[in-house]
Amino acid sequence: MKRYKWGILAPGKMSAKFTRGIKLFENAELFAVGSRERDRAKKFADEFGFEKYYGSYEELAADPDVDVVYVASPHSFHKEHTLLCLRNGKNVICEKAFAINAREVNEMISEAKKQDLFLMEALWPPFQPFYNKAHEILDSGMLGEPVHLYGYFSFHPPFDPLDRKYNLALGGGSLLDIGLYPVIDALTFLGVPDDIKALASFSPTGSEESISMIFKYSDGRMANLYSSFSTNVGIGCDILCEKGNMTVARGRDMSQRVILNLHGKDKEEFTFNPPAMGYHWEAEEVMRCLDEGRKESPVVPLSFSLDLIKTLDRIRKAAGIVFPGID
Ligand SMILES: NC(=O)c1ccc[n+]([C@@H]2O[C@H](COP(=O)([O-])OP(=O)(O)OC[C@H]3O[C@@H](n4cnc5c(N)ncnc54)[C@H](OP(=O)(O)O)[C@@H]3O)[C@@H](O)[C@H]2O)c1
Repeated sequence: MKRYKWGILAPGKMSAKFTRGIKLFENAELFAVGSRERDRAKKFADEFGFEKYYGSYEELAADPDVDVVYVASPHSFHKEHTLLCLRNGKNVICEKAFAINAREVNEMISEAKKQDLFLMEALWPPFQPFYNKAHEILDSGMLGEPVHLYGYFSFHPPFDPLDRKYNLALGGGSLLDIGLYPVIDALTFLGVPDDIKALASFSPTGSEESISMIFKYSDGRMANLYSSFSTNVGIGCDILCEKGNMTVARGRDMSQRVILNLHGKDKEEFTFNPPAMGYHWEAEEVMRCLDEGRKESPVVPLSFSLDLIKTLDRIRKAAGIVFPGID
């Protein structure tokens, strides 16, 4: 069994969650951490048991023994840090949003192809049991065709102009942070929309705080999507179909549930509580793809990441969301 030496680039909150997932696998070695501050890298390495730590991302990327790097800096640095790793011969899994816009994502994909290395966006939903259950139910035909989708994700963090959620220089705003989940739901269950309308409201820093989106498909189907940092509705979607409805939702405790509501029948509920909040499946997929010599994941293909970022670009254009100096 090939063992993979993992590197963590930017040891923030999400890196801690992802590391707990990597830890579950015998073929994964918690190998090296890179932070802008050596002390932060050491603290994270000590806490989780990494062998090495570095006070810069460049040193991490240059370590010849690292096989694969998990990039979890703020979105505005994803392109730079992914390119750094790829150019140093590392396979990469990079957090969402994959980058700020489609131009950046195209650069990342071109570089991965040029270097003949693996690249994947760290998208959580496609690996989760509630998504698999939703696909199973839709594929069975019992609900008929999906006609409409309501998708939402909101929570209410304290306003902090320096935090990446509100800081425009770090790609701040609810859309790229959490709004992309209802967008993923719509792309997954309905496809890429033909028309998009969107309106946003903005925080005192000028970052988007709340956004409402409408997707329209040429065959008449539609989706209403919402994300916000000023309410607390949680995350989920309702898929309205010809013969009934289905709710696909996640609790704050990361428990997952699917509620099937067939017209004229009692409701049926399915719940799932995966270990490591379900983040481990992304790490497993990376190692499975590397074992098989794949350069991209069939579960999260780069074409899906491109569809996603192009859709996010269209939404931002419709809602007037710009990142000055970045795009
Ligand atoms: N998949 C998911 O469910 C999920 C959930 C939450 C977040 N995320 C994604 O993960 C990424 C990181 O989010 P997070 O919540 O972990 O953020 P965070 O706690 O703020 O950590 C981000 C890390 O990036 C590094 N960094 C580099 N340049 C920075 C700068 N100019 N300002 C601030 N930090 C900088 C910092 O590490 P050092 O300074 O130590 O290097 C920091 O610890 C984001 O892209 C976010 O969208 C994904």
